[in-house]
Amino acid sequence: MRHLIVPSVDTQHWFEIIKSNGWAQEGLGILTTDDGLKAIPLNSSAPAEDNSVWQDTAYRIILRSEEITKHWAELIDQELLLEIKEFLPRSHEIIGDILVVKLEDEIYVHREIIADAMLEQLPNVRLICADKGVQGKFRVRDLLPIKSRQGDLTTLTKVKEHGQIILVDPTKSYFSTRLSTERQGSYTAAEQLFNVLGRAITVCDPYAGVGPALAGILAKTGLVDRALIGDLNPSAVELLQQNIAKFLSKNTRPAEVEILCQDGRKWRERAELNHKVDLLLVNLPHQMLSHLGDLLPLMRRHSPSLIRGWAIVEKTEIQNINDKLTKLFADNGAINHNITCSEVKGFSSSKSFVRVESWQEFQ
Ligand SMILES: C[S@@+](CC[C@H](N)C(=O)[O-])C[C@H]1O[C@@H](n2cnc3c(N)ncnc32)[C@H](O)[C@@H]1O
Repeated sequence: MRHLIVPSVDTQHWFEIIKSNGWAQEGLGILTTDDGLKAIPLNSSAPAEDNSVWQDTAYRIILRSEEITKHWAELIDQELLLEIKEFLPRSHEIIGDILVVKLEDEIYVHREIIADAMLEQLPNVRLICADKGVQGKFRVRDLLPIKSRQGDLTTLTKVKEHGQIILVDPTKSYFSTRLSTERQGSYTAAEQLFNVLGRAITVCDPYAGVGPALAGILAKTGLVDRALIGDLNPSAVELLQQNIAKFLSKNTRPAEVEILCQDGRKWRERAELNHKVDLLLVNLPHQMLSHLGDLLPLMRRHSPSLIRGWAIVEKTEIQNINDKLTKLFADNGAINHNITCSEVKGFSSSKSFVRVESWQEFQ
């Protein structure tokens, strides 16, 4: 059993990242090591020890009596298990109380038996859904409910992330628990920009989905004075409005918020939205590079600003993209420009999911 070893004060922070990414070993608690550190049990889908997500923390292997805790597959009839073992899913994603799993065609016929075993082993899971992939321009999930506790098949659920509750319906709006670390990075970057500017910042997230990136940022009193948020998917915007109201209710000096259901590229057409934004989030990985030019007019002038965007790119193209963006920003009047393009994870054998982080001052 792998454990992430962290100082006691950081336990909550790391546990939330691990839990929201679906990397926590269900059914096992956090241990205190002999040297007073905390050991958080990880499941098999957690990234390897050398992954950058772990920063300076350390893995250790700790044997514990709970090692004998069953895996859900052990609850399947032994004869059947032998027959289907090689096709059983090795990982799954837990979104709130919904477990989403890709099932090979060879075992699809046994889906109810598999779902029963999962429900028995994972007490916090309410609904098991087969994941048929993402579909459409809004990239919502095609989920097929298989089994639930007490017949509750609703796909609306609540995800706890960075101390906030976020309403999510993966069949109505894009949401990935796996990007929780990126969202934490955006929160840290917002604080960094706040410190650089010495004042509350204006945040813009035109591809917000249900708003997970804003959970910590808008709940923090004094950090943000204004937020321009939106999504083109009306179903996402319905949940976004509810989530944003919740985040703001925790804040004693809530930001002024405008929520739009509109193509992000059109926001520039409203003059009053131009030159207002200090921090821009561009989470549209398949089109980020082509949308960026239309978003730059939103950025504040004569003041340091930050853009964080995510893109899916050919691995061989990463340096070219850096160069192209440097030119695009220079053409739009950026000075003191510092841009980094870092791989977050592999997307396919030839493509990577990258984070672009760009600090600059537009003239
Ligand atoms: C990858 S998701 C990111 C959602 C959210 N930021 C998150 O982290 O969960 C991209 C979002 O952009 C929305 N979208 C797609 N095209 C858009 C456009 N042209 N303008 C605004 N939103 C768009 C989709 O509906 C989707 O919710």
